[in-house]
Amino acid sequence: MSTRTLSNTFIDIFHSLPDKAFFAPGRINLIGEHTDYNGGHVFPCAITFGTYAVSRKRDDQLVRLYSANFPDKGIIEFNLNDLRFDKAHNWANYPKGMIRYIMEAGYDIPGGFECAIHGNIPNGAGLSSSASIELLIGVMVNGLFGLEIPRLDLIKLGKQVENEFIGVNSGIMDQFAIGMGKKDAGILLDCQTLHYEYAPIQLDHHKILIMNTNKRRELADSKYNERRSECEEALEQLQQEFSIEALGQLTEKEFDESQHLITNETVRKRAKHAVYENVRTIKALKELKAGNLDVFGQLMNQSHISLRDDYEVTGIELDTLVEAAWRQPGVLGARMTGAGFGGCAIAIVANETVDSFIEKVGTVYQEKIGYKADLYVASIGDGAKEIEMEDVV
Ligand code: GLA
Repeated sequence: MSTRTLSNTFIDIFHSLPDKAFFAPGRINLIGEHTDYNGGHVFPCAITFGTYAVSRKRDDQLVRLYSANFPDKGIIEFNLNDLRFDKAHNWANYPKGMIRYIMEAGYDIPGGFECAIHGNIPNGAGLSSSASIELLIGVMVNGLFGLEIPRLDLIKLGKQVENEFIGVNSGIMDQFAIGMGKKDAGILLDCQTLHYEYAPIQLDHHKILIMNTNKRRELADSKYNERRSECEEALEQLQQEFSIEALGQLTEKEFDESQHLITNETVRKRAKHAVYENVRTIKALKELKAGNLDVFGQLMNQSHISLRDDYEVTGIELDTLVEAAWRQPGVLGARMTGAGFGGCAIAIVANETVDSFIEKVGTVYQEKIGYKADLYVASIGDGAKEIEMEDVV
């Protein structure tokens, strides 16, 4: 969709001109999966696909929203005085939750607004379309009303929306990546302390590919919350021996020597993943900085195996894509990304084999699963921000 189209949509729907434009990206996670809520490290980056909005302030208290992705839902309207979750409001609960928590945090949103939104990240694909909308609304409210809410606060408020308004017990990775993303850089984030550093992603002669299983994943319906409580159970048992606040504080050796404290075998496997994946993520950054891309790729592969066998969040669709990817020439590494249970995987692929990779992995998937996967090259872009009207795509 072009500027003209999104602005035109706005004019058609709201019969007035928008005066500001905003963008919030989606994200992929290069490595460090299911570690954020375990106080471990993650290494995500923002992608150039995301969600665009054009908007305009109103003189009353109404918020009127329209998404070109859900035209059948029409305009969704609510009042700043009534920001309760409403199932009928569907996707607009994300903006509503965000507005509510911004106000509850003490910021004065003096009036309503109307906005038209369009996203080019498939929703339910595990690329964080929901965190993208949360941060989009955050930067929009900041931009429209000059609130100057610090970026880290917007990130935390976005997480609060997921946890308290929507009911998914997710960690901070998605909102952080979307809020802090920087072109051509990954972010190594310590989720316990929120210390972070940017690392340039120089992939020499390689590209990052996104492989979408096209199997929808609804976090609220998934076993996400169950994994989280399994990790909490493991932590409690390990606390008999260690004074730790999170699994991410353990070394592999400490875990190996004390894993007998975890009485349930399944729970033990979950905790093992959390501890090993955290260590792997720190190692991966070191290897990347040293220019050892091939080792980085192998760590990605190990991450997938651990998510498949110990954390059990992959499933046949993701495994088919990733295992097919591993067999292709020119592939440094491949793994699922995000929560799992469907959604997307990523692969690092040599430039000259990208076309044959897309064709071969696509064919294997179609034959085994019975429907198409989407494979495309990803670019790493900036975090959520106000943009010029003409930069809306
Ligand atoms: C989802 C959650 C994140 C994170 C990942 C798994 O994307 O929103 O907080 O837990 O899953 O790494």
